[in-house]
Amino acid sequence: MRKIAVLTSGGDAPGMNAAIRAVTRYAIYKGLEVYGIERGYTGLINCEIRQLDRRSVSDIVQRGGTILKTSRSEEFQHVEYQKIAADNLEAYGIEGVVVIGGDGSYRGAKDLSDNCGIVTVGVPGTIDNDLAYTDYTLGFDTAVNTALSAINNLRDTMTSHERVCIVEVMGRKCGDIALYAGLCGGAEVILVPEVKSDISQVARSIAINKRKGKSSDIIVLAEGFCRAGDLKEQLRANGINSSIKTTELGYIQRGGAPTMQDRVLAAQFGVRAVDVLIEGKGSRVVGIRNNAIIDMDTTEALAIPRKFNQDLYNCANILGQ
Ligand code: F6P
Repeated sequence: MRKIAVLTSGGDAPGMNAAIRAVTRYAIYKGLEVYGIERGYTGLINCEIRQLDRRSVSDIVQRGGTILKTSRSEEFQHVEYQKIAADNLEAYGIEGVVVIGGDGSYRGAKDLSDNCGIVTVGVPGTIDNDLAYTDYTLGFDTAVNTALSAINNLRDTMTSHERVCIVEVMGRKCGDIALYAGLCGGAEVILVPEVKSDISQVARSIAINKRKGKSSDIIVLAEGFCRAGDLKEQLRANGINSSIKTTELGYIQRGGAPTMQDRVLAAQFGVRAVDVLIEGKGSRVVGIRNNAIIDMDTTEALAIPRKFNQDLYNCANILGQ
């Protein structure tokens, strides 16, 4: 393999830039030419391809977002557009592509490999931490720390006013951002899609907390459980009369400088991804398991069912009382 490309796809995540930098510099070190594809699969279809050198990726290791831009492409689900993309790669002599993104992006990479013979490797880049084959995805640690910083601020003001606060965090169908931010922020209640929770029971525990002398309650709510406004209504319907405030953290969680952990992961994932492309085996993904960097077949990786960390959830609930 002489020429490879890198793209970012789906929701951006802090650490994507650090991964682009790692892929580019390590590939050049290994004697490869590197190309950046702009706007994910949309840019691949539209042939938005430019060569990257060491200087193209200067001053980005610390930046959130992605210098390559990103998109969610409907078109790329169709084989005729995958063929156009493959023709564009062929025109540049590019044989392998690093795809930084989440599960939807991985499915695109697998299609590109299965239907068009392009070697692909996926780097897990999503704040959601919803890929079962890897313990952590790029951007998750930063997003949790951003949420945590907001929860710390909210605690100050909620305690002063003796209020209840619902903090809604992202994560799609995955409750990991809520779990880790809730545990570390000392939340009284954590609601995640993986665990059935009875709202009348939540209301009861808030009433008990008040009697116990707690001066504020923080409820960390994963967006996959329900929306903050709906939960507020339900708590009211279950007799909570004290002041309830809602804060939806939204896209604030997706931006910002990557943490040390995300930058280290970006470096390790980027290097392994280039090595995997050089080996030239179909469609693979890289990840981290038990502190070791791994790679595996994309289909196998996507077939692994996600397992929620129930023990950590139980621990957070006990410590938050
Ligand atoms: O997958 C990352 C994520 O931020 C999710 O947590 C969230 O549900 C979704 O993307 C939001 O997507 P969009 O940027 O399309 O609004």
